Amino acid sequence: MNEPAFFETTAGPGVVGQPLNRVDGRDKVTGKAKYSAEYALPGLTYGVLKTSDIAKGRIKSIDITAAAKEPGVLAIYTHLNLPKLAKTPNDPDGKKAIGAPMGFLPLTSDVIHYAGQPVALVVADTFERATHAASLVRVAYAAEQPIATYTDPKAQLFNPDKVQDGKADGYTRRGDARAAMASAPVKLTAVYTHAINHHNPMEPGSTTAVWEAPDRLTVYESTQGVTRTQKSLATMLGLPQDQVRVVTKYLGGGFGCKGSCWPHTVLTAQAAKGVGRPVKLVLTRRQQFTSMGHREDQTQTLMLGASREGKLLSLIHEKTSTTSPWDNYAEANSKIINMLYDCPTFESHYQLARGNVMTSTFTRAPGEAPGSFAIECLMDDLAYQLNIDPIEIRLRNYAEKDPSTGRPWSSKSLRQCYARGAELFGWNKRNPKAGATRNGRLLVGMGMATASYPVHNSQGMARVRLYADGHAVVQAGATDLGTGTYTVITQVAADSLGLPPEKIRFELGDTKLPTAPNSGGSVAAGTVSSSVYMAAQDVWQRLTKVAIQDPKSPLFKAKPEDVSVEKGRLQLTKNTAKGEDFMALMKRAGMDDVEGSGQGKYGAGYETGRPGNPAGPNNNTESTGEHSMHSFGAHFCEVQVDPDLGTVRVTRWVSVHGAGRILNAKTARSQIIGGSIFGIGAALMEATLRDPHYARYTNSDLGDYHIPVNADIPEMTVEFIDEHDPFINAMGVKGIGEISMVGVSAAVANAVFHATGKRVRDLPITPDKIL
Ligand code: MOS
Repeated sequence: MNEPAFFETTAGPGVVGQPLNRVDGRDKVTGKAKYSAEYALPGLTYGVLKTSDIAKGRIKSIDITAAAKEPGVLAIYTHLNLPKLAKTPNDPDGKKAIGAPMGFLPLTSDVIHYAGQPVALVVADTFERATHAASLVRVAYAAEQPIATYTDPKAQLFNPDKVQDGKADGYTRRGDARAAMASAPVKLTAVYTHAINHHNPMEPGSTTAVWEAPDRLTVYESTQGVTRTQKSLATMLGLPQDQVRVVTKYLGGGFGCKGSCWPHTVLTAQAAKGVGRPVKLVLTRRQQFTSMGHREDQTQTLMLGASREGKLLSLIHEKTSTTSPWDNYAEANSKIINMLYDCPTFESHYQLARGNVMTSTFTRAPGEAPGSFAIECLMDDLAYQLNIDPIEIRLRNYAEKDPSTGRPWSSKSLRQCYARGAELFGWNKRNPKAGATRNGRLLVGMGMATASYPVHNSQGMARVRLYADGHAVVQAGATDLGTGTYTVITQVAADSLGLPPEKIRFELGDTKLPTAPNSGGSVAAGTVSSSVYMAAQDVWQRLTKVAIQDPKSPLFKAKPEDVSVEKGRLQLTKNTAKGEDFMALMKRAGMDDVEGSGQGKYGAGYETGRPGNPAGPNNNTESTGEHSMHSFGAHFCEVQVDPDLGTVRVTRWVSVHGAGRILNAKTARSQIIGGSIFGIGAALMEATLRDPHYARYTNSDLGDYHIPVNADIPEMTVEFIDEHDPFINAMGVKGIGEISMVGVSAAVANAVFHATGKRVRDLPITPDKIL
């Protein structure tokens, strides 16, 4: 059999790409789908957190006497009695060893670093009793004046060497951007601020921990990555990795906040060990705002130098944001600004200030979403300044290769995205003059922006068991955020195995299954689909071996490399009449089933190791590989603005993306719509307000933290450009998790400018900023 290379749907029934309904849809709407907080274990108890009201200081004393006397209370853990962990993020190098999202674990000392920090964990036999007892825990604090944000006059700014857990440099320089800026005929500078955003998945964070033995733990967890959580817990608890099992069958969203193992998870595991019974802890909505990170408050200053024809000559970017007292975390906004347009020089700096907040974390296209807001608004300004159409100004700066690395793109369909988006939107009907289009008394504006998101580096394993009766069980320890992983992987397995989708059962969300990456960074679809496809190829190779040794098989004594598989039939590639169905072969051989496993690679690691290109270093870092790998797209937005009230309504929306192979037309469209809606939320509504004096959130609930509802969103048009990209992974899938959000807030802000002539650079664009 041939070495498997690029996936072709012709091998199966051709369901990849089809708009299949979700295979888990029925279970979800009937309530059969079991979420992590829905495991009714025998002897289950309930954990409730008591959190700090102050943002900075020390715990002078904790009085648990009243709480402990309450009926049903089993234990109250504080920093004074929490069972000792093998390793904590506070230990030297502990954060790194754990893979923890922040370098501080609450309940390990009397120090208070942020409001909402857990100070006690109460366990009782019912949720109500635990909640009541937690309210009786009395804490006396020695409070100090906290620092709420980098804008606080007491905040001390510093330049970190690295940001985003070391994934990006704190200072980047390409060419001499200062000199190029000084001599540029056209110069623009603008300052962009972005509110604190919270992920707010419908399902909050939750942990149900049960110790099956003193050294064997199972955790039902709401996480985007069972393996990552398993590794973190194993390190903190001092257990071999395989003695911690993490199960996540369904997720009600995550958006990045469930991409790491946060403190409440390990605290719940410790509590379960302490009381000797399973403990379930579900964050309240209010606690969700101080337990699993957020998108940090930030200011970006972007300077642009260009020729009078609108050709970029220099970009200088500076970002200032708030981080926690112990980590240097900032979303890496500069990466997209460095690669989106052809510009010979670039410079970027990060500045941080320590505030009394928990560490922020990846949130819906971290870096790319707010970074694109700055560059895409400033490109719009440049277009108006030079009286050039906003699409034309982007075409004049079209990057034919990645300017940040000099590498060619693995594929790029951005030109087609602009053209098709403009056509669908009716861009040519737009009056270029700002403030000149009306619908009755409403001001009408049309804006657009570019989107891009990288193909990161990732890999994972999968297992396929094909049964002689014509069904298959496919397994990978992936997670489905609700975006359709169950469905798209079922489709891939169907085409890889030549079976109808209803004959496939795809199992995910368990560390007992082959290891798969986090559903994060848009890597899951590309990685898991590739690993399932490779596992199916392993199955066919095994069956080919059986066939060519079986005198009764038409393929007896054939060379493996001459055999190929089409729709479940093993046959000679050059004479397809000679072959047989896998079921006939397996029955004759007395095989009930056959199992294959495979490793799927995504991004640079795939390219360096792919067939025909074995020479690369294959060391699994983003910097290897010959190509720069990105999705690209374009968003088009129409708004109508009430000039008296300052309200902005998005009235039309078009998104066109080139993102490699699209596995399911329906779930892909839904993902782009969902991400764009969250982008519209960030543009117009979303802001968590941190009180400048107390450093506490004042709107930590879904009543006051505004996100778009159906009435805020028009019918949206989504299309994809067909792309064949053989460099990124065996499936040609780039992933569409996050590109949906990139450029969205700029498209909205650009439309608002076109409607009103007013440039709002401070998100969200609330009515007070328009009037
Ligand atoms: Mo996504 S913000 O990488 O979970």
